[in-house]
Amino acid sequence: MKEKIRKLAKEKNAIILAHNYQPPEIQDIADLCGDSLELSIKAAKTDADIIVFCGVHFMAETAYILSPGKSVLLPRTDAGCPMADMVSPESLQKKLAALGKMPVVTYVNSPASVKALSDICCTSANAVEVADRIPENEILMVPDRNLAQYTASRSAKKIHLWEGYCPVHECLRPEDIRKARDAHPNAPVLAHPECRPETLEAADVIASTSGMIRYAQESEKKEFIIGTETGLLYPLRKACPDKQFYPASEKTECPDMKKISLEDVYSSLENMTGLVRVPENIRLPALRAVERMIEK
Ligand code: 13P
Ligand code: SF4
Repeated sequence: MKEKIRKLAKEKNAIILAHNYQPPEIQDIADLCGDSLELSIKAAKTDADIIVFCGVHFMAETAYILSPGKSVLLPRTDAGCPMADMVSPESLQKKLAALGKMPVVTYVNSPASVKALSDICCTSANAVEVADRIPENEILMVPDRNLAQYTASRSAKKIHLWEGYCPVHECLRPEDIRKARDAHPNAPVLAHPECRPETLEAADVIASTSGMIRYAQESEKKEFIIGTETGLLYPLRKACPDKQFYPASEKTECPDMKKISLEDVYSSLENMTGLVRVPENIRLPALRAVERMIEK
């Protein structure tokens, strides 16, 4: 199946992008694996005719926003992100009416229709830098309250939170970190900014998924406790075969990130199913917010 997919991708001039949380066999057939920021940048630059996005819906949507001339395929259209569904254009407009007008910084884990109402997007890799770039002192960050709190702790901005969260990272607690440290006392703890503030406090390093891979590669340490979705263990072990990685908890598995199989990838590419599109009246304002994030 892996060979069949690679052959078909070549014939159709398709590029396969996979998020770092995707199952190992999907990462193995991808042209590029990465965090949300790296995948957005790649989607904006590729000259392929087709982008097969192995991730969740908002990622494929972002790829389409950046590359409307290409066919963007999500091999399983039911792969969504519960956090992205915690904000809608209506609820955002209501909040802005109550708070007063202010710049909106929207995490890429959000619907295109919410990006369209935003000033700029961010990912977990650049949230602090994006917040600092905004001239105003007060901003609203949606939809992840944990990422917003983390950003507020590193930035001078007054940040208003949105009560959204990732159910996968939310379940990682300081007790899990303590237990993992007891079992592996020499291993630093790396945690994702989608974790709760008390969990981040218990960690040594806070980084995006690719940021964790880079940290492990550059560190002199030989073992690490990983506080994020367990799919990241595969690319970590691949990047650092001589180092040990332990999940901070086995509970942190995202069911949506595990939906796509090799068969789904093949059939979507062969039959051009799972096309993701965004209407132009939403795409254009959403594009402005995503482009502002990418261009420095
Ligand atoms: P990053 O890979 O950008 O850190 O994102 C994590 C995530 O939860 C994506 O859904
Ligand atoms: Fe959404 Fe969390 Fe799954 Fe990422 S890990 S796709 S934020 S539910």
